[in-house]
Amino acid sequence: MEISEPEVIRDKSLMRSWSRSRRSNGQTLALVPTMGFLHEGHLSLIRTAKSLADLTVVSIYINPGQFAPSEDLSTYPSDLAGDLRKLSDAGVSAVFCPSELYISAPGNDFGGHLGAVNGERVGASCLEDGGSGHETWITVERLEKGMCGTSRPVFFRGVATVVAKLFNIVEPDVAVFGKKDYQQWQIICRMVRDLDFAIKVIGSDIVREADGLAMSSRNVHLSPEQREKALSISRSLSKAKLAAEKGLKNCQHLKDLVRQTISEADGKIDYVEIVEQQGLKPVEEISCPVVLCVAAWFGNVRLIDNLEID
Ligand code: PAF
Repeated sequence: MEISEPEVIRDKSLMRSWSRSRRSNGQTLALVPTMGFLHEGHLSLIRTAKSLADLTVVSIYINPGQFAPSEDLSTYPSDLAGDLRKLSDAGVSAVFCPSELYISAPGNDFGGHLGAVNGERVGASCLEDGGSGHETWITVERLEKGMCGTSRPVFFRGVATVVAKLFNIVEPDVAVFGKKDYQQWQIICRMVRDLDFAIKVIGSDIVREADGLAMSSRNVHLSPEQREKALSISRSLSKAKLAAEKGLKNCQHLKDLVRQTISEADGKIDYVEIVEQQGLKPVEEISCPVVLCVAAWFGNVRLIDNLEID
C-alpha cells in the first residue's frame, strides 16, 4: 500500500479550509491534539483515531495558556523533526503545527512569550505574562477544581480554551484524548456536552512502559535513579486496586497505601484521590466505578497516573 506524507499545515485558515474541503467530500476527520515530543502513548491515540475516521489530523502546539509562570513551559521537551518522522510512519493525513494560536495585542511582540516567565503570579498563565490580547477563557466550573486543578490553578481553563480553539479550527468529527490525563479527558467531555460541539470525544487507555511507568513526555527529565523510584506510582496503584478487589472499600485506607508506597520511594505527593469515574466526585467508600488518581514529584518532575476500579 502506498503511504503518502502528511500535509504539514502551520496556518489556521489553511487548516480550516483543508478540513472543510475533505468534509465536503464526505470524509470524516479525527483529531488528536498533542503538545508534541511524541511517544508510544500518542501513537496509540493515533491508531485509535485512525480506526474511527477516514482521515486523522494531529495537532502539535505547546500551549502557553495552560502553564503558570512558575511551571515548565520553557523546558517542555520538543522535537518537531522527530515528531514529523513518527507521524509520517503512523500514516496520518495532516499535521497542524501553528507557531502561534493566540492573537497578539497591538504593539506587543507576542512571539517572545515562550520562556518569558518572570516571577510567579497565582491565577495567571504564561500567556498573560507574554502580553497577549487574548481575553476569553473556558472554565468547566466544578470538574476543574481539585486534583490537578489545586496545584495548577490555570491549567484546565488553558486546556479547555485551546482545545475549543482547535475544535473550531479543525472541525473534526471525533477527537481522541489519553485517559492518563483523566481529569482533562472528563473536562473536555463536559465542555463538548455543555457547549454543543458536534464532536465525539474518545478516551484512550493509558500506555505503559514494560515496567509499568505511564508514558509521558516529561519522563525524559527523570534521572535513571528517579525513574526507578517513580515506578512506585504504578506499583502503589496496582497494590491499592488489588486490595480493593479483595474487599478493602475504605478510601482513606486505600489512599494511605498509595501514599506510603510512593513516600517510601522518596516521591513527594501532590495528591492522591479516589473519585467517581463519571463526574469525578470524591468518594469515601467504594460502591460505584471509581478512579484512583495520583500526582507526585520525583526531583523536579511532576508525574500523574491513575487506575480505574470498576
Ligand atoms: O494533553 C495534552 O497534551 C494537552 O493538554 C492538550 C490536550 C494537547 C492541550 O494543549
